Amino acid sequence: MVQERDDMIGLDASILMHPQTWAASGHLKEFADPLVECKSCHQRWRVDDLAGNGCPDCGGELTEPRQFNLMFKTFMGPIEDEASVVYLRPETAQGIFVNFQNVLNTTRKRLPFGIAQIGKAFRNEITTGNFIFRSREFEQMEIEFFVKPGSDKEWFDYWLEERFNWYTKLGIKKENLKLRQHMKKELAHYAKECYDIEYQFPMGWAELEGIANRADYDLTQHANFSTKSLEYFDDESKEHFIPYVIEPSAGVDRSALAFLCDAYDEEPDKEEIRVLLHLHPALAPIKVAVLPLSRREKLVEVTKQIYADLRQCWMVSYDDAQSIGRRYRRQDEIGTPFCVTIDFQSLEDNQVTIRERDTMNQIRVPIKELRTTLAAKLSGEELFVLPPGGQIWKEEK
Ligand code: GAP
Repeated sequence: MVQERDDMIGLDASILMHPQTWAASGHLKEFADPLVECKSCHQRWRVDDLAGNGCPDCGGELTEPRQFNLMFKTFMGPIEDEASVVYLRPETAQGIFVNFQNVLNTTRKRLPFGIAQIGKAFRNEITTGNFIFRSREFEQMEIEFFVKPGSDKEWFDYWLEERFNWYTKLGIKKENLKLRQHMKKELAHYAKECYDIEYQFPMGWAELEGIANRADYDLTQHANFSTKSLEYFDDESKEHFIPYVIEPSAGVDRSALAFLCDAYDEEPDKEEIRVLLHLHPALAPIKVAVLPLSRREKLVEVTKQIYADLRQCWMVSYDDAQSIGRRYRRQDEIGTPFCVTIDFQSLEDNQVTIRERDTMNQIRVPIKELRTTLAAKLSGEELFVLPPGGQIWKEEK
C-alpha cells in the first residue's frame, strides 16, 4: 500500500497530540458508545453486544443506555489539573490530518495522493474480548487519501475494491469476506458514506476494516480550530479548495486474527494429525527454517554458515532438536513456508533439500543457488521450477 505506490507517503505521527486536536476532530464530543449497567450485579455492557433485554450474566434488569466516551486521558507535565489533560489517540487518522500541510510542503505531492500510517490506538472499551478482536490497546493501519471534490465517489469505489483484494491476495478465502454498507444511523460523525469489510470469524461475521468517505470534514475542522487555512491550490484548474478524503481504516490485530483463522488447517497424517498454517509467505513470521539432519559437528558447521547467510535476507529459524519429522511439523504449525535440510550428502555434493510446507514436496539445490531459489519461491515461483543443478527430490502427492 505504501512502498509499491507512487501516490502514497508513509508517516509516523505522535500518539499524544495537542488536546485541541480531539476537540477539532469531534472525538471529545462524539466518540462514545451507549452503555448499560445491570442493576443487580453492576456489570456494564455495550448496547450492541446485547441479544435480549436482561443482563447476560445474571438476567438482572438493565439501566437506560448512557453515552460513555472511549478516550483515554492522561496528564502532560508535572501538574495533574484540567489544563494539562491530554489524550492517547483513539485513531491514527488525526495525526495524518494535522500533518497534511507538512507532507504537502515537503514531498511536492499533488492530488490525488494518500498518507498512510500504522500505529497504536487506544480506546477505553466497555467490553473487550474474542481474543485480540477487541482490546483497549490495538494497532491500526490507516490511509487518508486526498482527492479533488467531485472525484470522491470514483476513489471511494476504487479503494473498496483495492482493500477487498488486499485480503484475498494475501490468502483470505473470498467466501469468508463481505462488504457491508453502513446504514444512515450507523454512520460515524465524520462520514458521508461507509462500508465495512467483514470477515467470517469463528464467532460470526465481524468488522475487519471500514472504508469511509470523510469528505472535507477533518481538514475543515482543523483549519477552523487552528485558524490556518488547509486549502489546496490546483495548478490545472487554478482553483483553491479543501480536498476530500477517502479513508480505508483497518485493524492490524483483527487482520492478523482473520489470517490465522483462515490459514489454520488439520490434515490426516499416518496415525496422527498434521496441524498447519497455510500463511502467505509475506505474512509468515519465519520464512525459512534450517535443519541439520544430526548434531554432528561437521554438519552443524555447514548449517550454521547457511543460517548466517540466509538471516541477512529473512527471519530464519535454526532447529536441531528431535527427529527431522517432528521439526518439519513444528514449522508447519507456525506456517514456515520452507525448510532447508542439510544432510551428510551435503558435505559431499554441496547440495541441500528444500521442503515446501503445503505440499511437503522437496527439491535438492546447490548451496550456492539457495538464496536466489528461496527468494523466487517466497515470491510465488512453483517449487518444481529448478535452478541450475537442481533436481526434484521427493514428490508427496
Ligand atoms: N479512523 C477511523 C476509525 O478509527 P474505526 O472503525 O473506529 O474507524 C478502524 O476503527 C478499525 O480499527 C476497525 O475496523 C477495527 O479493525 C480496528 N479497531 C477498532 N477498535 C478496535 C479495538 N477496540 N480492538 C481492536 N481493533 C479495533
